[in-house]
Amino acid sequence: MASGSRAHFSSRLGFILAAAGSAVGLGNIWGFPTQAASNGGAVFLFVYLIMVFALAYPLLVAELTIGRYGNANPIKSLRAVWPQQRGIATLMGIAGMIAVSMILSFYAIVAGWLFGFLVGPVLDAIGMTQAAEWLESFSASRNLVLMIGFMLLTILVVRNGVANGIERWSTRLMPLLLVLFVVMVGYILTQPGAMDGLKMFLVPDPSHFSPKLVVSAMGQAFFSLSLGVCSMMVYGSYIQKDVNLPKTAAQVALLDTAVAFIAGLLILPAMFVAQHNGVEIYSESGALLSSDTLVFSVLPAMFETMGGAGLFIGVLFFVLMVIAALTSSISMLEVPVSCATEELKQDRKVAVWWIGGLITLFSALIVFNFGELFGLVISLTTEYAQPILGMMFALLVGWVWKRDKVLQEIREGYPELEQGLFWKIWPWYVRVVCPILMLMVFFA
Ligand code: TRP
Repeated sequence: MASGSRAHFSSRLGFILAAAGSAVGLGNIWGFPTQAASNGGAVFLFVYLIMVFALAYPLLVAELTIGRYGNANPIKSLRAVWPQQRGIATLMGIAGMIAVSMILSFYAIVAGWLFGFLVGPVLDAIGMTQAAEWLESFSASRNLVLMIGFMLLTILVVRNGVANGIERWSTRLMPLLLVLFVVMVGYILTQPGAMDGLKMFLVPDPSHFSPKLVVSAMGQAFFSLSLGVCSMMVYGSYIQKDVNLPKTAAQVALLDTAVAFIAGLLILPAMFVAQHNGVEIYSESGALLSSDTLVFSVLPAMFETMGGAGLFIGVLFFVLMVIAALTSSISMLEVPVSCATEELKQDRKVAVWWIGGLITLFSALIVFNFGELFGLVISLTTEYAQPILGMMFALLVGWVWKRDKVLQEIREGYPELEQGLFWKIWPWYVRVVCPILMLMVFFA
């Protein structure tokens, strides 16, 4: 352990994997391809790439830096950066805590579906067709049971704390997931209809461009990099001082974007293959049908075309996806839990249960009012809370925090910082360009 009695990630690699574990999740495999498919494909991809590198990356560095400087839960870290305004800093931390809890409440529902498609085909293969049917079709009871299962898993991992729980879960998963993806992309591209999907994903049709698309792409970039709601701030607080923050953040952003890109290469072609095989994807008017569950109808349809190997590949895929979703969900629950343990001096084992329990209750509320609440909570959190809070963090780092303090913090793991390009651009970029960009997107 580095400073004080707080746990830290034991190695640089441990941290990169943990932060990448937070970033890579349903946002990449479910969120990104769904958004790309409903927003004209390639145009969305390009705007998304711009958003990741022009907006999300600089903010990722900012959030990690605040966290590592504070070396504490987000509320305390924000106060350390803005000691003159402890009240406002506390409010920002609390806002992030509430937003991230709301994100977890819808995330757990979608992650629960993964269990359904993991276990369903296996039950089907051994003749338990009714149970399989229940697991694979949309119903409030299924959504509730599977969501509770996923929340329990999340709670159990977070209960064990960062170094034990989180770091261990994040190792070695990423390479395996990537390999499996590449195999699946290779397969799908040989199927009839796939080229239409590939074309949609890679060849831009400018007529699809709209201001709404830019807002969606920004929300998606913030979501995918876990920004704006203190997840990355908490993880920053567990990094050791010798880690090079700008470089690590770049690695995390690149890896995350690569996974989203490959998922797009898989899902969009798979959509058109499924359509070719008779699954309805687009309505008469050209709008995407049931976009929330799209990925979950297209992928199982693909595994079915693979014969016997499909069952095995499908199970492996969904197991890896559950783990990827879990390494993301723990980075969400860790935010309120770290605040409760440090600010309220609660035992982690106690805090994790009551906070996890409250989030499960809220999630159940969404399950029973799916039509009204699911989309609403997603858009409130990802299109408003995340960018607005993210902008506040940028303003904090750009205007409130003393420049030499920021310099000192980043230099700890990057001694040549002042000679590099990063330090010539980033400080004024976060100070001026990021807030202006965000305001422009908002008022567009
Ligand atoms: N980025 C993760 C994904 O793509 C989800 C995630 C983890 C997240 N922590 C977050 C999203 C905090 C928003 C805020 O699946």
